[in-house]
Amino acid sequence: MNNLNHISIEKVNAFYGDNQVLKDVTVGFPRKQITAIIGPSGCGKSTLLKCFNRLIDLTEGASVSGKIIVDGMDVLSGNIDVTDVRRKMGLLPQKPNPLPMSIYDNIAYGPKLHGKPDKKELDEIVEKYLKIAGLWDEVKDRLKSSANKLSIGQQQRLCLARGLAVEPEIILCDEPTSALDPVSSQHIEQQLLKLKKDYTIVIVTHNIHQAMRLADYVVHLYLGELVEHGAANEVFENPKEERTRAYINGTFLTELKIDSEINLKGNVCPFNFVYAKQALHALEKGKILKLIVDDPLAVTEVPRGMEADGHEVLSVKQINKTDWEIVIQKER
Ligand SMILES: Nc1ncnc2c1ncn2[C@@H]1O[C@H](COP(=O)(O)OP(=O)(O)OP(=O)(O)O)[C@@H](O)[C@H]1O
Ligand SMILES: [Mg+2]
Repeated sequence: MNNLNHISIEKVNAFYGDNQVLKDVTVGFPRKQITAIIGPSGCGKSTLLKCFNRLIDLTEGASVSGKIIVDGMDVLSGNIDVTDVRRKMGLLPQKPNPLPMSIYDNIAYGPKLHGKPDKKELDEIVEKYLKIAGLWDEVKDRLKSSANKLSIGQQQRLCLARGLAVEPEIILCDEPTSALDPVSSQHIEQQLLKLKKDYTIVIVTHNIHQAMRLADYVVHLYLGELVEHGAANEVFENPKEERTRAYINGTFLTELKIDSEINLKGNVCPFNFVYAKQALHALEKGKILKLIVDDPLAVTEVPRGMEADGHEVLSVKQINKTDWEIVIQKER
């Protein structure tokens, strides 16, 4: 197997009772690259991540066979230290789950458990990882306040910092932005792109746009089988397998042919929202509207409002220092 791979899995089979949910999966995850695992609901994406860090052991009736080699060590072998394995691989969950303690203690908890560094060292660790997770500037003046008071997006960056503070080599993310608003998602995506300089990242995502923005490699699973694996640009632009093409086209919707575009720069909320609503009203169902806004509030509030109205927000991205582009599909 390719030794550029940080994780190499070979003929992995997983069962819940008699139900086989991973079937002879053989694939590699390159070092210091982002690999996205895509595939429809129930195809085994989360199960595969749980095999990597042996979280699957906690599910009664689950069994796994095959090999999962990380740095030459087989994670599935009986004589492995599971704590060691989990320390090597940090998991960023779908919904942030801060510990019920202060921001500072959330980060300091793991390092204290593992090595009991002194106060000065802990201060440095807390600052370092909050900076890496892109949260330091927002929380440096309230490190002693409760982590639960942070916004959901901030909590997710806190969880990222907490996971990094125990110095893993691999970051596993199971739909890490699905509970976040578009701006917080973009924050997390930006951090992941920076982190791949030092870490191997595996991300499970339902969002093809997100996979396209982040992934260097893609693994497509379908009903527990590996359908296709390859460099992201090849898989997305020219998939070898018809099932991959169908999945990508079905999820990616149209090739984002914009039917109408309005420039709302200079407007503030709630006018942005009202104008966007009027523009969507004038469109037929399924058509796509692009908005350009420069009011920071509009970047979160317009997508939220549009989704509440039943439309689908296809993308939100910053296009220059002040302007954002929001693409919305009118409810089908
Ligand atoms: N604890 C469990 N006990 C029994 N069956 C399970 C358990 N967890 C998952 N499954 C089943 O295993 C299959 C794979 O589930 P898994 O959660 O890995 O899918 P997934 O690709 O992550 O799906 P989703 O995109 O919905 O998160 C599904 O059929 C699911 O119902
Ligand atoms: Mg899942």
